[in-house]
Amino acid sequence: MNFHETFNDSYARCQKDPNFIILFYELFIEKDDRFRLLFSNVDMSKQYRMLKASISMIMLASTSAEARDYVKKLGKRHGPDGIGAEPLDFDIWLTSLLEAVKMCDYQYNSEIEQAWRKCFSLGIAIMKEECAAKK
Ligand code: HEM
Repeated sequence: MNFHETFNDSYARCQKDPNFIILFYELFIEKDDRFRLLFSNVDMSKQYRMLKASISMIMLASTSAEARDYVKKLGKRHGPDGIGAEPLDFDIWLTSLLEAVKMCDYQYNSEIEQAWRKCFSLGIAIMKEECAAKK
């Protein structure tokens, strides 16, 4: 099985748990008061739908130029002129996502963890680049 397949199977198991995305957000916002504050007025049900869609786009970033464009725009929206996320925040974001995967995928192991990391690496690098403070 290649790492895309490993990721897909793991994500499918996670999605069977209706609490997966909610769990992720709880794990994320508890890591920094800044995150809690940022999300305090956000419509979370809309946010959950958007996030599900963007997980797919982030993943596709390595294969499709269209997906890369979308991720770039998403990154800009998160950057200094938008939400104000900092590059390191994306590492915390991914750590929180992997903690949620660990809790929801009963087959979780280091190979599955690596598959998630590989699938997200380019998308997250693009987001970070757009969020780096411009001099
Ligand atoms: C790869 C990681 C991330 C993805 C895929 C992602 C995805 C998204 C998407 C799709 C939206 C909705 C955008 C829209 O309404 O047009 C959004 C909004 C938001 N994101 Fe992220 N995000 C990521 C990381 C982060 C990080 C690290 C932070 C915090 C520092 C953050 C904070 C927010 C906030 C506060 C909003 C809501 C903006 C609003 O509606 O007022 N996100 N994110």
